[in-house]
Amino acid sequence: MPALLLPLLAGAADIEAGRRKAEVCVACHGPAGNATLPGVPSLAAQPAMYVFFQLIQFREKRRNDAQMSPFAANLNDRDMQDIAAYFSAQQPTAPPFVADPAKAAAGKIVLDAHHCGSCHLPGLTGQNHIPRLAGQHYDYLLKQLLGFKNGSRPDIDGTMSMAAQPLTEQDIEHLAHYIAGLK
Ligand code: HEC
Ligand code: HEC
Repeated sequence: MPALLLPLLAGAADIEAGRRKAEVCVACHGPAGNATLPGVPSLAAQPAMYVFFQLIQFREKRRNDAQMSPFAANLNDRDMQDIAAYFSAQQPTAPPFVADPAKAAAGKIVLDAHHCGSCHLPGLTGQNHIPRLAGQHYDYLLKQLLGFKNGSRPDIDGTMSMAAQPLTEQDIEHLAHYIAGLK
């Protein structure tokens, strides 16, 4: 994790200010950060540090997305802290995804074999700069895992890109079934 960014997180974030600053975001990311649009990730209960670092990545154009990037371009560090604190304090709703039971069971085996929970935590709830995955959208998970494997999704410290290298496309499909169905 970039040590230079750590002092920025030390200031007290304002959740109520974050709620107001996030009004433009929930048009895509859903009420309280529970997204329903295809390809848009949920942000509810995401660790604040993760949201903050990803917003920096978008603003500095290290992570790029035609829909998302314009919304990070004009945020200052204080806005990002407040917004991150707001989304991280929200409750995730039950995921809309209905997993294929056989694919989800195969995904759980891949997840355990690759110790994904050692970083993302056993319930895949995330910690610090490591994202919550539980209940994230299926097509978003597929895109990100393929992106870490082929290098199109940048990675702050390189650990996730390394974790994705041994995964086959079938592993990724199975993982996404398991993870997207988790409460
Ligand atoms: C027009 C729709 C749209 C709007 C409005 C929008 N986003 Fe996004 N956002 C996206 C999409 C799509 C992605 C996924 C990009 C990708 O595939 O990498 C994303 C990704 C993100 C991520 C990364 C999530 C993760 O799990 O890595 C964060 C954080 C985020 N947005 C925060 C915000 C904030 C804060 C705002 C408001 C200031 C906002 N977004 C406004 C569409 C939008
Ligand atoms: C060594 C720690 C580590 C391990 C092991 C690990 N991850 Fe990650 N993962 C991370 C970090 C850190 C990020 C954030 C990367 C970034 O954007 O800088 C991440 C990001 C992700 C994302 C993107 C989520 C989002 O909201 O955009 C997915 C999906 C993911 N990991 C799935 C997995 C799966 C599946 C495994 C097991 C095969 C795994 N991870 C193993 C550390 C790890």
